[in-house]
Amino acid sequence: MKSAQLEKILKAHDNQSSNVLAILQDIQATKNYLPRKTLEEVAEKLQIPLAQIYHLATFYRAFSLTPRGRHLVTVCTGTACHVKGAASILNTLERELKVQPGETTGDQEYTLETVNCLGSCALAPLVVIDGHYHGRMLGTRALSLLKGEKDASKKS
Ligand code: FES
Repeated sequence: MKSAQLEKILKAHDNQSSNVLAILQDIQATKNYLPRKTLEEVAEKLQIPLAQIYHLATFYRAFSLTPRGRHLVTVCTGTACHVKGAASILNTLERELKVQPGETTGDQEYTLETVNCLGSCALAPLVVIDGHYHGRMLGTRALSLLKGEKDASKKS
């Protein structure tokens, strides 16, 4: 992250160490992950231990220490979704995107993740794309939704 970008985020939070969580959220929103070098700068500027920042960065699932794609695709593999075919959806996405869960496509377009039950089992099998829940999913439908997201983000 460029220094000027970080300065702007720090300034928006009054350079206060008590606002470190909000600062990390802004960095995550800007870069789609938390670059190590940026975290070191945050630690230095706010004068808080880097270990404390890493503790927060690894505690909250919303943060990622590795680059994420522009689109986050989460396949629920909890029991209800598993029974309704989550494995088949996951296989289709792995094959077409050529990544395993936890990985990002080479073009930085998609990050594939799995999760154990999102509490919406009535919608099983469930896939979440960029925070939007898509219930009663099929692998092929998930792929066309991804294509739609990609096309939409190209236009914007
Ligand atoms: S098992 Fe998928 S939402 Fe509960």
